[in-house]
Amino acid sequence: MTTAPVTVPTAPQADADWWRQASVYQIYPRSFADANGDGIGDLRGIISRVPYLEKLGVDAVWLSPFYPSALADGGYDVDDFRDVDPKIGTLEEFDEMVAALHGAGIKLVVDLVPNHTSDRHEWFREALASPKGSNARERYIFRDGEGEDGELPPADWTSIFNGPAWTRVEDGQWYLHSFATEQPDLNWKHPEVHEDFKRTLRFWSDRGVDGFRIDVAHGLAKDLGEVLPSKAELKAMPKDGTHPLWDRDEVHEIYAEWREVFEEYTPARTAVAEAWVETAERRAKYASPKGLGQAFNFDLMEADFDATHFRDIVTDNLGQSAKTGSSTTWVFSNHDGVRHATRYGLPPRAGRDVKQGAEWVLAGGPDDGIDRELGLRRARAATMFELALPGSAYLYQGEELGLHEVAEIPDEQRQDPSFWRSTPQTRGWDGLGRDGCRVPLPWTREGESFGFGSNGAHLPQPAWFADFSVEAEDGVEGSTLEMYRAALALRRQLQSAESLEWDERLSTDDVLAFERPGGWLSITNFGDDAVALPDGEALLSSASLEADEEGGLLLPGATTVWMRRTA
Ligand code: GLC
Repeated sequence: MTTAPVTVPTAPQADADWWRQASVYQIYPRSFADANGDGIGDLRGIISRVPYLEKLGVDAVWLSPFYPSALADGGYDVDDFRDVDPKIGTLEEFDEMVAALHGAGIKLVVDLVPNHTSDRHEWFREALASPKGSNARERYIFRDGEGEDGELPPADWTSIFNGPAWTRVEDGQWYLHSFATEQPDLNWKHPEVHEDFKRTLRFWSDRGVDGFRIDVAHGLAKDLGEVLPSKAELKAMPKDGTHPLWDRDEVHEIYAEWREVFEEYTPARTAVAEAWVETAERRAKYASPKGLGQAFNFDLMEADFDATHFRDIVTDNLGQSAKTGSSTTWVFSNHDGVRHATRYGLPPRAGRDVKQGAEWVLAGGPDDGIDRELGLRRARAATMFELALPGSAYLYQGEELGLHEVAEIPDEQRQDPSFWRSTPQTRGWDGLGRDGCRVPLPWTREGESFGFGSNGAHLPQPAWFADFSVEAEDGVEGSTLEMYRAALALRRQLQSAESLEWDERLSTDDVLAFERPGGWLSITNFGDDAVALPDGEALLSSASLEADEEGGLLLPGATTVWMRRTA
């Protein structure tokens, strides 16, 4: 691999616009680093690894939920939105973590979960202790059941994690949970819900948080009416702003209120929506500068490693963000999906169900049909493609080590509610649930839990983690970690206006080449055969370049190179 020496200047973006082209590193706190030896990662663990993040060269950290939680859904079941889980730390440690990150020039984005609380939240306890029709029940979505004694759920709906979406409480009423039973949906028609979330936004903003990642942002506004549609009817309804549950137009009124809160601060607090919506146009509404400002774009995460798909996705999303004034986002891996190194080692999804992981399991188990070497090679090429694009790049902890999905977790140790509420046939995401990308990180080759903590890890780590540990890759030329470090540093140096121009002479069905203002050329070969490179200086490549007989440089298959053009 070509690794040109680079200096690391400070991020060039003006402060208020830091998010527009940021590299954001997602920390899933319970699996990052465990300082107190209870097998669960914690804030002290994060503080101890700030130098690692600084050396990696990311602009911001997105911290998945760290709030008090029974962990029915990995922390997305929140007991109290304005506190830290005692298993993870304290508010004082949170402040220390903010100071340490800011001291290293790294912003902090925290996860906010406004679609639901946990069933241990004080509001839900109060709702259960209060009668039907009470104000406490009105904060959630309670209904009487069907059937002679209301013994049947109000509707036959299925939760996103499978299994029923309605659960019955002691006095016979039912409550709606779009996710696990322990995650009752809030009623956003209730003014106290609005007030409380604004309080939460200010609470963390006052503590120095720079932005928020909004969980299930497309789910808050609901309009159920008197007669509930059936599951089949729900499914047939268009998601054009009028669907009773998802992506309703009035959800943007909530985000307009939040925008006022964001603007109370200098620089304004930022937000990024997790919004699973039908079209890039509808996604753009969440990214409006009058609303959350930015939205996750999962298109690349759902695409095959294919030049035509990638190009269409990039063109489409850059066009959308130009219209709204937002900047686009790119994601290949997160805590909800099969890691991209593994995904790209599977047969292509095109023309098949995108739930390819289910096929992976059904095909006979974790060791069948995955070309891990090719998967990682493509993942590295894809990451360098991503890091050269205009917009923000969201990276998931462990991808900088080239980690693969851990498939070999015994069923009884799995934690993901989506695993427990489904069968391989009905399971979303990847057929094995989402634990495989949430296994605690390997920091060292050997020793207790590969350096994650002093006393085990809450999900079992496989033996092959040793070779993917930070220790195994640190300072090793050609390692995935060193590629990420070099790419992130170069990106800071080369970052320019939010635009690109496709190089039509170099681009083919298998090759995508584009240039950013200032002469930063990125070329990705998605095919198998090496292609000739143009004249210029090769700055960094995701795999070693080759030479032809005359000494000209060749770009091998599944490789990205960044170049600076000469003349
Ligand atoms: C989002 C989160 C996911 C969580 C769900 C319910 O999709 O990313 O991890 O399970 O919301 O909160």
